Amino acid sequence: MNINFRQKKVLITGGSGMVGRNFIENDRSKNYHLIAPTRNELNLLEFDNVNSFISKNKIDLIIHAAGRVGGIQANIREPLLFLQENAEIGKNIVLAAKKQNIKHLINLSTSCVYPKNMEIPLEEDLILSGPLEPTNEGYAIAKIFVQKLCTYINKENIDLKYKTIIPCNLYGKYDDFSLNSGHLLPNIINKIHNAKLNNKDKVIIWGNGSVRREFMYVNDFIDCLYYSIENFFEMPEVMNVGVGKDYSVLDYYKIVAKSFGWGGAFDFDISKPIGQKQKLVSTRKLKKFGWKSKFSLKKGIDETIKYYLESNKNV
Ligand SMILES: NC(=O)c1ccc[n+]([C@@H]2O[C@H](COP(=O)([O-])OP(=O)(O)OC[C@H]3O[C@@H](n4cnc5c(N)ncnc54)[C@H](OP(=O)(O)O)[C@@H]3O)[C@@H](O)[C@H]2O)c1
Repeated sequence: MNINFRQKKVLITGGSGMVGRNFIENDRSKNYHLIAPTRNELNLLEFDNVNSFISKNKIDLIIHAAGRVGGIQANIREPLLFLQENAEIGKNIVLAAKKQNIKHLINLSTSCVYPKNMEIPLEEDLILSGPLEPTNEGYAIAKIFVQKLCTYINKENIDLKYKTIIPCNLYGKYDDFSLNSGHLLPNIINKIHNAKLNNKDKVIIWGNGSVRREFMYVNDFIDCLYYSIENFFEMPEVMNVGVGKDYSVLDYYKIVAKSFGWGGAFDFDISKPIGQKQKLVSTRKLKKFGWKSKFSLKKGIDETIKYYLESNKNV
């Protein structure tokens, strides 16, 4: 039977992260009874606490948006931590949900789960069809493990509906802009802003700039997440969420440079790791589900730069 989750109890993990904070801040959050414990209130690495928290709060739907998340440098530096923590917290939340007979769950995965060198766009059934990109292998294995926990649970328990969303790269308000742990686009914003502030006429790009990436503005993704809650029962068990178009790394540098009004040049350091060549996800299932991205890349980048400048004005 289809349920309307309005005014029902929705637990979101990772409420202090980029996705979590934007989800909570969105106007549509007032349609739900949101429960968003901080890490201090609920450390997801501890199964017994997760289990008793879920049992006490009589939750109707869980959105699992917590994780150890980082850019290529952080993933290369600490693959063990990315594998172990994402597997552990995913396992704890999904198995505690099952134990407490929570019927509805949305698990957030990542487009890093796709094998490298696959035909583009990446269809959901390509997962586990080939070797993973080594620079994010630990993170990807953990995310595939949690997706599989969800699908096996669905298979063995017809009352439980545990679904997985695979978002492309996200960016926007509350992103991690730091150079040694953040993702590509917030990193570029930080680098170009610094070049402008310090009157530098050159910025160095890792690799030759030809690698392609797909980015979605986080507000767009939050709109999709609310749409998925509102249409939970029609949502496919595993579904990509993307904008349907990717750009080269050099394109992103150029777009950000233009938004900042920085007119310098780019140099390329081809000794640095660059990750997967292309990760554009297929939006075939998403379109059929009835959702489409609304923000242009320019609008998303301009809004993100505005936020970045505002939050750094006293630094
Ligand atoms: N950002 C992207 O580009 C992107 C793209 C695709 C998929 N995703 C997926 O989307 C989800 C959300 O990503 P995000 O960008 O919002 O990440 P984020 O900003 O790094 O936030 C991660 C959240 O998880 C929480 N967390 C981590 N370990 C925890 C633990 N042991 N106990 C309790 N909370 C814990 C963090 O809490 P603290 O603040 O206390 O650390 C934080 O609230 C993740 O599953 C990620 O894999 C993100």
